[in-house]
Amino acid sequence: ALARRIHRPIVLVGMMGVGKSSVGKRLAQLLDCPFADADDEIERSAQMTIPEIFETYGEDYFRDGERRVIARLITDSEVAKRRIVIATGGGAFVNPETRALILEKAITVWLDSEVDTLVERTARKENRPLLRNGNPREILGRLREERAQHYSQAPIHVLSSAGPHVQTINKVLQGIS
Ligand code: S3P
Repeated sequence: ALARRIHRPIVLVGMMGVGKSSVGKRLAQLLDCPFADADDEIERSAQMTIPEIFETYGEDYFRDGERRVIARLITDSEVAKRRIVIATGGGAFVNPETRALILEKAITVWLDSEVDTLVERTARKENRPLLRNGNPREILGRLREERAQHYSQAPIHVLSSAGPHVQTINKVLQGIS
């Protein structure tokens, strides 16, 4: 019933490791709609992994691709009049243009969690170039603090605790209904 009332993209923003992709996938299943992961879309269109893109072309180039990919996903869902769940990379919402577009067109959900949880979850996958040049806990803590001013502009805030995502998903569903 909830699914039929939603006609806008649902966009998940928040730090790396918070669980945007896992939560997003499950949410899309529950809402019976497609799921897109902006990071995966960038990798697919560049035919390179994110660390390769950072190494070869630098972060600015990646940010530009990220901005275009998210704009395309949102526009496509508008044209198709089909809802979609989109997981964004942790830095996407820091870009003013991307942030404005998301806030205008989508139901935006900020997934947040304790730094400990971010550290634990990012340690499982070695694919984050920003965590390679220092202590992940320090980097994650600093980025979370710097970015909170942007993330907090999302109208829906959900705290994701350590452990399974079921509760987080239920909180997101409550938030968007
Ligand atoms: C980044 C987060 C990553 C990825 C890139 C940069 C960031 O996405 O886009 O490594 O700036 O926080 P996840 O949030 O999916 O890890």
